[in-house]
Amino acid sequence: MSRESSPLPLSESTPAVRDDHELRDEVSLRPTTLRDFVGQKDLVGHLEIVLGAAKKREQTTDHLLFAGPPGLGKTSLAGIVASEMGVNLRITSGPVLTRPGDLAALLTDLQDGEILFIDEIHRLHRSIEEVLYPAMEDRRLDVMIGRGPSARSIRLELPNFTLIGATTRTGLVAAPLRDRFGFIGRLDLYEVDELESIVQRSAQLLGIRIDGEAAREIGCRSRGTPRIANRLLRRVRDVAEMANSTLVSRDLAESALKTFGVDKIGLDKIDRRILSLLCDQFRGQPVGLVTLAHACGEEPSTLEDAYEPFLIREGLLMRTPRGRVATQRAFTHLGVSPPDNVML
Ligand SMILES: Nc1ncnc2c1ncn2[C@@H]1O[C@H](COP(=O)(O)OP(=O)(O)OP(=O)(O)O)[C@@H](O)[C@H]1O
Ligand SMILES: [Mg+2]
Repeated sequence: MSRESSPLPLSESTPAVRDDHELRDEVSLRPTTLRDFVGQKDLVGHLEIVLGAAKKREQTTDHLLFAGPPGLGKTSLAGIVASEMGVNLRITSGPVLTRPGDLAALLTDLQDGEILFIDEIHRLHRSIEEVLYPAMEDRRLDVMIGRGPSARSIRLELPNFTLIGATTRTGLVAAPLRDRFGFIGRLDLYEVDELESIVQRSAQLLGIRIDGEAAREIGCRSRGTPRIANRLLRRVRDVAEMANSTLVSRDLAESALKTFGVDKIGLDKIDRRILSLLCDQFRGQPVGLVTLAHACGEEPSTLEDAYEPFLIREGLLMRTPRGRVATQRAFTHLGVSPPDNVML
């Protein structure tokens, strides 16, 4: 059935559609091709194959799911897939879609070959998720028209499209949904070398002169996350501007980062608060996630998605069946001695 004759209340600009301009603060630094995308070598290699093969067959690519902590490049990758495939990207996100009709409106509005990107797909309501299953599998949409005894179901054919989902929590994506993606790409925290290259690249795009050691210093303190690397670079630039300095040196970067509360290993105020709660207040005992989050004034999901991955990778925090525990390295980093009754 064509879009024009669809009985769904389709509006040209449903509130669920966000166009890419809304993401403007990050857009200027976003890599636009796979070649520009620093790091995640395995994932990039796999995508080259998946996209290359689809292009060769002149087909749309399979549905893709990108998973990983915030700021690692999931949205950037969705944009890259669209530009590599030479198609348009429509952007929405799980929490924005409140009724199955919102998603149906988006799907029926897609043009042939387009990509629909659903950010935070793990936050889709179950009833909306169910609309996706036949859409992803058979490109069809079953819609109920009317209410009560006169209600009837009609089936709409959808154009060829690719769904790209992004999630910070693969565990929360329902299995039937996860299984319908043809490729799942997991993004890991970045290495210092990679972050250093990202800082160099961003500095060039922003017209900031920075020396190699300063770029490395920022990379070291970015908690494995490109978004944080870019944010720190902008703060360092502010300090350089205030100091009338035309070149960002390592000393300047170091003192700027100190001013903004980022320590030698990249921990910010909240990271240090988490560790000091575990080491000092809870005296090295295991602490439940919710208790820890409330004590820090953060949401448990923020703690789990944004803070823990780095603290765990750095060997500062452990997840145990009884709760979160600080490691010996955390005590040493904070300069606190562990209580005698705590075995580390
Ligand atoms: N591999 C990369 N190379 C260069 N820059 C990157 C890379 N990955 C991310 N970035 C930079 O980090 C910023 C954040 O990336 P992006 O918005 O894609 O992350 P995300 O995974 O979608 O985060 P969120 O989960 O919060 O939505 C981008 O603006 C981009 O400049
Ligand atoms: Mg994103």
